[in-house]
Amino acid sequence: MNIAVTGAGYVGLVTGVCLAELGHEVICIDVNEEKIEMLKRGRSPIYEPGLEPLLEKHLDNGRLHFTISPDTAYRKAEIIYIAVGTPQKHDGTVNLDFIMKAAETIPQYIKRDCIICTKSTVPVGTNDKIQRLIHERKPPDVRIDVVSNPEFLREGCAMTDFFNGDRIVIGASSTEAASTIESIYLPLGIPCIKTDIKSAEMIKYASNAFLATKISFINEIAAICEKIGANIEEVTKGIGSDKRIGPHFLQSGIGYGGSCFPKDTQALVQLAGNVQHPFDLLQAVIQVNNRQQSLPVRKAKELLSSLKGKKIALLGLSFKPNTDDIREAASLTIIHELQKEGAAVTAFDPAALPNTLQHLGNSIQYAVTIESALQNADAAIIATEWNEIKHASLDIYEKYMRTAIVIDGRNCYSLKDIQNHNITYISIGRPPIIKKHADQASLNAKEKTYDETTAHLL
Ligand code: UGA
Repeated sequence: MNIAVTGAGYVGLVTGVCLAELGHEVICIDVNEEKIEMLKRGRSPIYEPGLEPLLEKHLDNGRLHFTISPDTAYRKAEIIYIAVGTPQKHDGTVNLDFIMKAAETIPQYIKRDCIICTKSTVPVGTNDKIQRLIHERKPPDVRIDVVSNPEFLREGCAMTDFFNGDRIVIGASSTEAASTIESIYLPLGIPCIKTDIKSAEMIKYASNAFLATKISFINEIAAICEKIGANIEEVTKGIGSDKRIGPHFLQSGIGYGGSCFPKDTQALVQLAGNVQHPFDLLQAVIQVNNRQQSLPVRKAKELLSSLKGKKIALLGLSFKPNTDDIREAASLTIIHELQKEGAAVTAFDPAALPNTLQHLGNSIQYAVTIESALQNADAAIIATEWNEIKHASLDIYEKYMRTAIVIDGRNCYSLKDIQNHNITYISIGRPPIIKKHADQASLNAKEKTYDETTAHLL
């Protein structure tokens, strides 16, 4: 089919490339000319494993195109996916400007019957508004159906998720339009849930809110485990073995971040408030998460008494591994709190240094290796469980730090492995390991042998 995808951001780009892989003729449109030029050259503006090879493949075979021209994008389209951003406004509600702009523009260029399929996460009732806008503006002789097809891809494994998702949700008022969209996904063999538009919109919010609830729940249990001397990993194994609960999304840590959970939980609280149903449970989930993000700083303060003038190595900046995305990342809260306490931060991340540099400038130092971040540090905080961090040799903490104090916000290491090292190790929901550290003289000797590689990207 001829498919246009509006918005070459995270969701739009992955959708466009994967639809080309399914054999469709795809054209992606975006208002950002620079981004479109980059994509035409086969370069992805986002870091997503597996995306760039497929992008190059379908540019080469002519199945995938990029444009900034609405006329070129929409003229031949049989299906138009809307995948523009729906960012959060200051009051927690959703900014629908981009999506409404798309709904106003599209009908001006449509030349044939088509289906408009919304991928962007939108509050319940938005697709009805889109439908009304489009019907007011469309040419009288063409038929346009609006379908809600919410996205469940995760950053960092979006390509795998596209081809192996658990379900596809299609909300439509026309059974014909729903069947056409279903036929697009048929080769994937993923079960399709066909429903009404409002229920489809709600499924997306309820899914993200439920997953966020699981995370805050397990983080609360972890906090209690710490107080009573239990181990959250044992507890998680025990409860996750109950099929009704399941083992997924029970990884305790320093909370959820990213462009979706924080925004979507806030939006659902707002939505519930608007219909006079205060969503107390979800409000508590958000509150627990906010508290959790600054937990490593509270733990560092407990250990070092004061953080003033202390050098803290921050390992991991992205909101989760395999992405360069730092939106709503716990690392940003940690940096803010550390700076408030007067500490100096040196950060390492395998992918997110450029984005962080753009966001924070030179208010922190940047290290291109874990070792150089640890050099001379009084404590290290792990904020993201990158493989590079999880599989790093534990020797480096003893070798390079002034005092080998590690506050692990993602439970990267086994307590057994840590026991064999002279590392004070505080993790989440597990018993702490407190060690006596080497004296200052021997640490100074180590410093002399270290080849200084701390990189200042500026
Ligand atoms: C999330 C959903 O998982 C996707 O299904 C959805 O499509 C997407 O939002 C969206 O609405 O667009 P994403 O934000 O990419 O995907 O990331 P997740 O893998 O869900 O992780 C979110 C956050 O939760 C991360 O900060 C992660 O570290 C944290 N997390 C996740 C935990 O703290 N514990 C867990 O057990 C799982």
